[in-house]
Amino acid sequence: MLVHLKELVQEASRSDYAVPAFNVFGYEDAVAVVRAAEEVEAPVILATNLAAVNHMPFPFIAPVLIEVAKAANVPVCLHLDHGKDYDYVAAAIAHGYTSVMFDGSQLPLEENIRQTKAIVKMAAEHGVSTEAEIGSVGYSDPAMGMKHAYSDPEEVRIFVEETGIDAVAVSIGTVHRMEEQGADIDFGLLHQIEARVPTPLVLHGSTGVRDDDLRRLATSRIAKVNIGTALRMAFGKTLRSEVAENPDQFDRIQLFQQPMEAVKQTALQKFSLLGLGRNA
Ligand code: G3H
Ligand code: ZN
Repeated sequence: MLVHLKELVQEASRSDYAVPAFNVFGYEDAVAVVRAAEEVEAPVILATNLAAVNHMPFPFIAPVLIEVAKAANVPVCLHLDHGKDYDYVAAAIAHGYTSVMFDGSQLPLEENIRQTKAIVKMAAEHGVSTEAEIGSVGYSDPAMGMKHAYSDPEEVRIFVEETGIDAVAVSIGTVHRMEEQGADIDFGLLHQIEARVPTPLVLHGSTGVRDDDLRRLATSRIAKVNIGTALRMAFGKTLRSEVAENPDQFDRIQLFQQPMEAVKQTALQKFSLLGLGRNA
């Protein structure tokens, strides 16, 4: 069933689990992720970033993912990841997204607040949930030109109070697009933020988080954990093997079977670490 972010993260924030937000790029990985969620009877968030929407624009990707969500027998949220401007976020809402992230992390605090407030107002008019970022989770590739800055606990408090967002993304040591689990989470900083801010917290760049840290974060006030690169690696590397091992196979449906299974298995591992596994 298709649900909003707010209801998922409020519950997760109070509980010993966190809901994964998996970046998906089309039908195959979305279905694989939802199959994993159904297997463990857990809620899940399907997130599309700019690359996904450039590849498959809103009029195509939104109906596909909405139908995948509606057909699921677990709660599924359709979330816009890292929306950078008002019109782009408005387009996602117009196409039926149930949650949007406005990413003003590269802006000065006052401007981030001003633009986030405008997004919250628009989203509220459509009953859509909102996430925004304060501090900045950088990227492993410096060529992306994105600054990295830890969140200041007092700024996080001001930001959520001024904007009224449903979930706040914080920078506590993760970096986007790490291919190894090498992030050093600053749990002290997380506790300072938790002490000041009642709003459910979001962690970006979570492919780079070690398994034991993911387990620990699941029991914290972190309610939404964004995972992208781990699934892209699972799909892409398995597809490369399939192509190499089956040189005569040209049927894409056949070639996609093992990559979809690899995405499902990776998602199952992450569900388990986040307190939503079979034996959780
Ligand atoms: O917003 C998306 C995520 O933060 C994904 O980050 O690709 O490093 O797992 P990741
Ligand atoms: Zn992110």
